[in-house]
Amino acid sequence: MEIPPPDPGGTAHLRRTRPAAVTSFIGREAFLAEAERAVGRASLVTLTGIGGVGKTRLAYELVEGMRKSFPDGACVVELDTLDRDAGVAGAIAIALAVPDQSNRDPVDKVLDALRDRRLLLMLDNCEHVLQEAAALTARVLAAAPGVRILATSREALMVAGEQIIAVPPLRTPPEDSDPSPAAITGYEAVRLLVDRARSHVPDFEATPANAAAIAQLCRLLDGIPLAIELAATRLRSLSAAQLVERLDRRFQLLTVGDRDAIARQKTLRALIDWSHELCAEPEQILWRRLSVFVGSFDIEAAEEVCGFDGLERDAVFDALDRLVAKSLLVPERGGERIRYRQLMTIREYGLELLAASGDEGTVRSRHRDHYTRAARCVGQILPLTRRGESGG
Ligand SMILES: Nc1ncnc2c1ncn2[C@@H]1O[C@H](COP(=O)(O)OP(=O)(O)OP(=O)(O)O)[C@@H](O)[C@H]1O
Ligand SMILES: [Mg+2]
Repeated sequence: MEIPPPDPGGTAHLRRTRPAAVTSFIGREAFLAEAERAVGRASLVTLTGIGGVGKTRLAYELVEGMRKSFPDGACVVELDTLDRDAGVAGAIAIALAVPDQSNRDPVDKVLDALRDRRLLLMLDNCEHVLQEAAALTARVLAAAPGVRILATSREALMVAGEQIIAVPPLRTPPEDSDPSPAAITGYEAVRLLVDRARSHVPDFEATPANAAAIAQLCRLLDGIPLAIELAATRLRSLSAAQLVERLDRRFQLLTVGDRDAIARQKTLRALIDWSHELCAEPEQILWRRLSVFVGSFDIEAAEEVCGFDGLERDAVFDALDRLVAKSLLVPERGGERIRYRQLMTIREYGLELLAASGDEGTVRSRHRDHYTRAARCVGQILPLTRRGESGG
């Protein structure tokens, strides 16, 4: 079979179905360097993370920077708009411009096309075709030793040899940090907000008057770039402080994605709907029940508060582990005992679902009972400690 010749260094093998980003890329220098080293070492690197955190944008940056080091360049396959009938293999075949031989199995076509290539293949947004993308990736890597795959997915592919890189949110100024304009603009999330706000309000900048509100806004948006971009459009008609005041209605407020944005990213709600739809029912139940926790919690609390009708106590851990895998729950690895936390955006979405589920009263009273019991336990321990102290 005749495969079109490669186009070293050219753009033919950097095919995209969407226009290249015209907005500026902010920060992430160390992350990019680390990811670049990973692509040099591992045949499959997967960027994972919550929706809108910047996986696709980072992957494009990586591909731009690395495609010249692959004799056959790079090829981008966007799977979020996949034609279900064509499947993942069909999408890759189209992106590689493999000549149409409709009687052949698309998987064979792709394997033949890639076998002797030295190419960087980016598979973008694998999460909703995870099994199929994983199976095909394993076959490509076995058949084509010169191919490196860079995947983005809200959840890892779990293919042998995969190097998973979790993409964190952009850094935001901590609550108790210096709120001066100079200090806050050292944080990536603030730089993104200011940059995007300027496309709506050209002279927008961090000033002594608005810096604290800007910092607070970035924190409330969990440093998620997409949420920050959506919020920036509102700075057209609201000040940063007014936006903060209204952010308890974030799902109504953050709805004005740029007209070119794909449907999934036009609103904050649509972004999270897409994650929610990819959860099995026990994960959906746990997600909404966990939203009663304001701060972090441990596995025992999750089991006790959330394990009842529809999601029994024994099933909580499994569902919790799946939510971590999907980047919907953040593990905090401070000490020996891991605690978990929902990002504020995820929690508020969960609270809405909880209110609609009919379970809210039960979950709240279980939550109260759990902490009352926990407080009583502490009460029992304290006198002992005091006795110990006075005796020592
Ligand atoms: N470092 C960055 N600098 C500038 N803009 C960014 C950065 N990271 C992300 N963005 C912007 O934020 C938006 C969301 O990013 P992106 O589409 O990469 O998220 P994602 O993690 O791939 O989300 P999804 O899971 O929905 O596919 C995009 O408009 C993107 O251009
Ligand atoms: Mg993406």
